[in-house]
This record gives sequence, C-alpha cells and structure tokens, in this order.
Amino acid sequence: MKVAVTGANSSVGKNLLARLCKEQGVTVIAGVRSEKAIPDLPESSLINPVIINYDDTNSLQKALDGSDVVIHLAGILIESKHSNYASANVAATAAIVDAAKKSDVKNLIFISVVGASPKSRNAYFRSKGVAEELILESGLGARILRTPILFGRQAAGSQAIVGMVSSGQAKLLGGGHYQMRPLDIDDLSEALTILCSTTVKDQVTYELVGPGSASYRDIIEMTAKIMGKEVSFGTIPIFLAKFGAAITSILKGGGITPTVIDVITQDEVVKTNADSEIGITLTPLEQTLKNMTNLGDGYDR
Ligand SMILES: NC(=O)c1ccc[n+]([C@@H]2O[C@H](COP(=O)([O-])OP(=O)(O)OC[C@H]3O[C@@H](n4cnc5c(N)ncnc54)[C@H](OP(=O)(O)O)[C@@H]3O)[C@@H](O)[C@H]2O)c1
Repeated sequence: MKVAVTGANSSVGKNLLARLCKEQGVTVIAGVRSEKAIPDLPESSLINPVIINYDDTNSLQKALDGSDVVIHLAGILIESKHSNYASANVAATAAIVDAAKKSDVKNLIFISVVGASPKSRNAYFRSKGVAEELILESGLGARILRTPILFGRQAAGSQAIVGMVSSGQAKLLGGGHYQMRPLDIDDLSEALTILCSTTVKDQVTYELVGPGSASYRDIIEMTAKIMGKEVSFGTIPIFLAKFGAAITSILKGGGITPTVIDVITQDEVVKTNADSEIGITLTPLEQTLKNMTNLGDGYDR
C-alpha cells in the first residue's frame, strides 16, 4: 500500500511516518514544502520524501499519483509572517482535493479539529470548517478526523507543560480551568494507520478524543506528580492575555493571537468518541503524561 502524507514534517507527520513504517507492505510518499524539512523526517528506506508546491497542481498530482491513500496533515494553528489560515488550512486543502480528484485517489483522510465549523466566529475553527466543506463536497471517498489538542513526546502542547513543570511555576490562562480531552499522538497515528486499510465510498466525519477529561490545571498537577516536582500556580486573566496577544501578534506579524487563546481555552467536548468505530484502544491519560515526560523525541533513527 502506498500512502501519501502532506505536512510530513509536522509533529503529527513525523509520528505517523514512524508508525506507518512498522506496517507490513506500506511505502510512504512524504510531502514536504522544502529541502530543509527532509532531514527532520524519520529515516527509513520505506519513506520517499517529495517536495510539493500547493500552488502547482502538477507537482501535487505527481506526488499523489499511484497512492492508495492520501493523508492531508498540512495545517496550522499559529499564523506567522509566512503562513496564514487561508493558505495553510484552506487553500492547501483545496489544492489537495483538486489533485486527489485528478489522480483518482480512492481514500482521502483529513485531519481537522474538535470545534471546526465554517460558521465559527473563531478564524482557526472557521478555516478548518471551510476545509472540511471542501472535503465533504469533493465527491471523494474521504474521512475527516477531528482531534483535540495532542499530547505525546513530539507534540508542542506537551513540551509547554513539561517546561512549566520543570521550571516549578505555572501561570495559567484563566486559572487553567478549561476541560481538555487530550489525545495521545501515538493513538492518532494508530487510528490513521487503521483508516488507511479501509475505504468509504462517501465522506465520513469522526471525532476522536482521549479517554479522560481533565482541566489543564489538573493535567499540570498530574504531570508534576509523575515528574516528582512541586509547582506553584498563578493566573493570567484571559482578557488580559488576549489584549497582550493582540498587540504582540501585530508587532511580530504572527504568533499567539486572541484567536489562538480562544482555541486553547475552550472546553473540548464531543458527542460521540470514534474510538470504538475506528477500532482503537485509547491510551489512558496518565500513561500519555508519563510518555510525554520521557526525554528524547522517541523516534528510532
Ligand atoms: N498539534 C495538535 O495538538 C493538533 C490538534 C488538532 C489538530 N491538529 C492538526 O494536525 C495537523 C498537524 O498538526 P501539527 O501540530 O503536527 O503541525 P505542525 O507541527 O505545526 O506543522 C505544520 C505543518 O503545516 C505545514 N504548513 C504550514 N504552512 C503551510 C502552508 N501555507 N501550506 C501548506 N502547508 C503548510 C508545515 O510545513 P512547513 O514546515 O514547510 O512550514 C508543516 O508541515 C494540522 O492540520 C493541525 O491543524 C493538530
């Protein structure tokens, strides 16, 4: 089975590539935007890095041609001078849908986020919702997998927590009382690997979250206990954080914005968890936290 992955150098992409390489008979086309992303990828003869340009349908079609599955991972939460929601989340998805149709791809998988909606007032959730609409209207056999914040050795969210616990001080937005359903990044890769081997004729949306719900503050406390550290807590009022983020993001041309703060402080709630429908056993939250406190990036090189 030939699997094409976009955004292969993303944190999810590197984890997924490592997982796919353990699967019998799988080869991976790892789509990245630049040469400099290639050394970051897990090393394996089963991984074939390809430079793709989302503005050039031919380069995309060439990368996707002959693929049994396309997993579209490229996308951002934090905008920068070089990338915004319109290009990374919407235009890149439109380009992949177009190329997938031309390459007659039978199995397209798109990573979205819990809370995505084309009608959302939040620009990130809206961009992911618009991208979902492109998939839903594509006519392709496709699965949309909405995920919450991801935890695990390679996930940015975990690095922030481990950093705070190590420093002994945690200043939390609104006291960190928002409820999370963190998904282990390894579980996401497992779910994607399972979805590779099945197809659908139409378009299906799944919400896949972790097995346990906890507030951000509780998660930090649990992590501190695992690491054997004491942490003192402080609070940053959300309105103040958003005000500061509005100014610094304008000055820097990106980074943490009020939009990002709204995303990370919203409660993660789903109606139905897709774990049993997909056929995956989720890692308990405590085990995920233990995994993320291990040093190293966790990849066999
Ligand atoms: N991490 C999470 O907690 C989380 C939660 C929910 C959903 N997701 C979704 O999972 C996917 C992967 O997330 P991640 O956190 O692993 O990502 P990441 O590490 O931040 O990497 C972002 C990826 O998007 C690519 N990209 C950036 N701007 C682009 C553009 N304008 N056009 C095309 N590609 C662009 C980057 O390529 P370059 O390196 O070339 O810039 C990189 O491959 C994303 O779609 C994200 O929305 C992640």
